[in-house]
Amino acid sequence: MFGRKVYGLDFGTKELKIYKKGRGLLVSEKNVIAIENKKKILAIGDEAYEMFEKAPDNVEVIFPVKNGVIADINYMEGLFSSFMTRINNSRKPQSADYVVAVPTDITDVEKRAFTDLIMSSVAKVKSIRIVEKPIAAALGARLDIHNAHGVMMVDLGADTTEISVLSLGGIVISKLLPIGGNTLDDSIALLVKKKCGLYIGKKTAEMLKINIGCAYPTEDMNQDIFGRDVVSGLPVNKEVNSMLVYDAMSEYISNIIDSIRIILERTPPEISSDIIDSGIYLTGGCAHIRQLDKLISKQTELSVNICDDSLNTVANGIGRVIEDGSYLKISSDFKKK
Ligand SMILES: Nc1ncnc2c1ncn2[C@@H]1O[C@H](COP(=O)(O)OP(=O)(O)OP(=O)(O)O)[C@@H](O)[C@H]1O
Ligand SMILES: [Mg+2]
Repeated sequence: MFGRKVYGLDFGTKELKIYKKGRGLLVSEKNVIAIENKKKILAIGDEAYEMFEKAPDNVEVIFPVKNGVIADINYMEGLFSSFMTRINNSRKPQSADYVVAVPTDITDVEKRAFTDLIMSSVAKVKSIRIVEKPIAAALGARLDIHNAHGVMMVDLGADTTEISVLSLGGIVISKLLPIGGNTLDDSIALLVKKKCGLYIGKKTAEMLKINIGCAYPTEDMNQDIFGRDVVSGLPVNKEVNSMLVYDAMSEYISNIIDSIRIILERTPPEISSDIIDSGIYLTGGCAHIRQLDKLISKQTELSVNICDDSLNTVANGIGRVIEDGSYLKISSDFKKK
């Protein structure tokens, strides 16, 4: 059983969530750290993200999670320690239980990095439990995961898309694709450079994706953006059309839908019939790409639901594990060496 102090953690590629038992979501910020002169922590979270693509040479702005796994354990530990110290009003955190969400389709060594970083941080650890992200997402979407009803969750994140089929509180199949919102942003920036002769930053590309991006072109939209002219090198503003953004995104979106179809083909028939019944559940930030639900529905001939509060579904699911003891068995105990 958990003690009185319990924290739930979702270390996403772009977003970091810290949930505390009885208090709810305490941290929901960008998972970014800014380091000055390779040593000093200059800023964390949203404040560090403000510096992204603007920082001088002696400041590095680092995303320590890449493709859903910890790419830089020291910076992730520094970032986590700083947030834990901040939410404990600059005091050392007291002994607590921790529940951390991890992707399913990664190696044991990659899973271990999530627990190692918590243990080497300022946190005084009583216990650590691991919850697989698709299960946390299903719980966060308030689906009844204990019963035998099969469910398909598609978590469309920043670097990854995790497609999973769940039944009886466990994972039947899961695939982590290296495609997410960042992939789309990079592709948009490349096409804007090629077609408009304009260098743009990742934040501008993301704004184009969110404001005028669509998975299936239905309406014609334009967005004014600032960038640097490829030839003159001068800052200029130009109008970008939604068709260009669609062209940049469509191949990646097709890859995601192809993978959903492959997973559906591999799903045992009894579970498939449940999925036909209840449809596919989309979560993660990119679930909100315009017309994506419609396109997936058209190409799989299944109904598609977008989870409420989809940016927080995993964190809300960990919250349910922490607050309600009956979900303890869906998490696994991590033993310290
Ligand atoms: N309204 C929106 N429309 C389209 N994309 C959006 C929207 N809101 C957020 N996003 C995108 O969602 C992504 C972030 O999603 P999310 O927070 O689920 O990722 P993450 O959990 O940090 O990443 P991962 O799960 O890959 O580790 C970003 O690429 C962001 O641009
Ligand atoms: Mg995520």
